[in-house]
Amino acid sequence: MMNIAILASGNGSNFQAIVTAQRKRLFIADIKLLITDKETAFVRHRAKKLGVKDIFINPEKFKNREEFDKELVEILKQEKINLVVLAGFMRILSPYFIKNFKDRIINIHPAILPAFKGVNAIKRAFDYGCKVTGITVHFVEDKIDHGPIILQETITITPEMDLEKLEDKIHRREHKLYPFAVKLFAEKKLRIKGRNVTII
Ligand code: GRF
Repeated sequence: MMNIAILASGNGSNFQAIVTAQRKRLFIADIKLLITDKETAFVRHRAKKLGVKDIFINPEKFKNREEFDKELVEILKQEKINLVVLAGFMRILSPYFIKNFKDRIINIHPAILPAFKGVNAIKRAFDYGCKVTGITVHFVEDKIDHGPIILQETITITPEMDLEKLEDKIHRREHKLYPFAVKLFAEKKLRIKGRNVTII
């Protein structure tokens, strides 16, 4: 059985979408735990409600990023995690972490990479006047929003759309796309060759 950990820092709507998809048997895997780095993150309430084990790791307890990540790796190894799903996790992961879970970490980004890397991507694409933006699910490497792309979906920004509408549309699409990417991984359908991910 594939064991999944979800890492999140905020609202957790993607966390919820993935757990819901798993419960509806969209894919077969065990969602072992949620890890957060924010004590008050709303995602923790979602975890409680859904009955998913939730661990808060306090960044203030560690003298640097690598020490934090050592604790993280330790927990993930104890739980025999095969897939780490980043869902709005607002910390940069160290090379130490990435090395330990090479090709087993995925992330979702609300833009068509490599455009609009980093935070506030939806707003930056909107303010830039883009006619099209979208969502990217990708493997994680030690550069931000960079690794091999698994799935992308475009969204047209129509003239009558305001930022709020666009954000809403992107989030709703994320909630379909991300569980689907997890399904592909869980069913071992992804092959990485350099920057290229093939779906078999
Ligand atoms: C999503 O828009 C995702 O693309 C980005 O962070 C946001 C997380 O939202 N990486 P939520 O916490 O899952 O609601």
